This record gives sequence, structure tokens and C-alpha cells, in this order.
Amino acid sequence: MSKTAKYPSDSLTEMSLIVRPADANSVGSCFGGVIMAWMDMAASICARRHCNVRVNTASVQNVVFKRPLKVGHVARVAAKIVRAFRTSMEIHVHVFAEDTYAGDEVLAASAVFILIGLDDDMKPTPVPELMPRTDAEKELWRQAGERRKKQERN
Ligand SMILES: CC(C)(COP(=O)(O)OP(=O)(O)OC[C@H]1O[C@@H](n2cnc3c(N)ncnc32)[C@H](O)[C@@H]1OP(=O)(O)O)[C@@H](O)C(=O)NCCC(=O)NCCS
Repeated sequence: MSKTAKYPSDSLTEMSLIVRPADANSVGSCFGGVIMAWMDMAASICARRHCNVRVNTASVQNVVFKRPLKVGHVARVAAKIVRAFRTSMEIHVHVFAEDTYAGDEVLAASAVFILIGLDDDMKPTPVPELMPRTDAEKELWRQAGERRKKQERN
């Protein structure tokens, strides 16, 4: 198992899916639960790429559905790790609704996932450190620390 520190770019994850009628309600918008399943999948892949061990989802915070994803849209799901703590990882997921006919896309949903690295006995295990590189990554890394401190106080 590699414990070498990694960059956010090492585990960037992106998946694209077409929204099908089976994903949608009676007015043609994708169900929130379907979108959350895609986000969870992308966050899990991102976490696994970072820590190279099994992971599971401990919490999902700040879920926002900003614009509807319609049948026929391409859902582009992007996951990026913003901080690794001891055994936990904070991963930000954004979902974009891409209209390939119009050639544009808008932010449709976002959420903050906390995933935990697990050993062979399914117990939390230390994960590699994350080294933010860009100013934006450093700021997100800092904010994740603030969020965690605030949660520990509550
Ligand atoms: C997530 C889980 C493994 C944590 O196990 P635990 O014994 O409570 O873990 P610990 O108290 O030792 O904490 C381990 C880490 O998880 C974090 N954690 C635990 N519960 C958390 C929560 N609800 N939200 C955010 N972080 C959490 C801790 O802060 C700690 O992080 P750190 O090591 O980076 O400091 C356990 O609660 C679990 O298995 N939950 C069910 C997960 C699941 O079924 N998910 C859905 C399918 S993937």
C-alpha cells in the first residue's frame, strides 16, 4: 500500500452519463437520488485513487441541486479530493448538465463527501497526505480544515 503524499490531480475523477427516461420523474428531470448515486460513485473512485485501499462513505454534506438535469442531457460528474486527514478524505463533487446540441453546460449539483480508507478488516486506516499545489487548491485545503474544526466543536 502506497502512503506517499499525493497531489489532487493524481486522483481527479470524471465520468459522463446520458440521462435516460428511467432516471427521470414525470416532468423529465433526473431524480436527486440518481444524481447522488453518481456523485457517490465518482467520490469513491477519486478516494480509491488517492489512498489505494477500500473506502466507504461516512457523510455527505452541502448537497445542492442547482439546475435540473433533463432526459437527454449529458451529466458530467467531476470529483476532486481537497484534503486528507488521518483516515478520512474530503472530496468535492460537481455535476454539470451538458446540452450537447446547444454546445453548453451549466452546474446542476454539488456536494461534499467524506470517505474513509479501510484496511482488510474494514477498519479505518491512515491515508496518504494530500499536497495542494495551486492557490485554489490551497484555499480549499484550508477551508476543509476550518470545516472540520467547526464540526469537532459541535
Ligand atoms: C465510516 C466508518 C468506517 C467510520 O468508522 P468509525 O469506527 O466510526 O471511525 P473512527 O471514529 O475511528 O473515525 C475514523 C475517521 O472517520 C471520520 N468519521 C467518522 N464518522 C464520520 C462522519 N459521520 N462524518 C465525517 N467523518 C467521520 C473520523 O473523523 C475519522 O477521521 P480521521 O481518522 O481522518 O480523523 C463507520 O462509521 C462505517 O462503517 N459507517 C458506515 C459506512 C457506510 O456503510 N457507508 C455507505 C456505503 S459506502
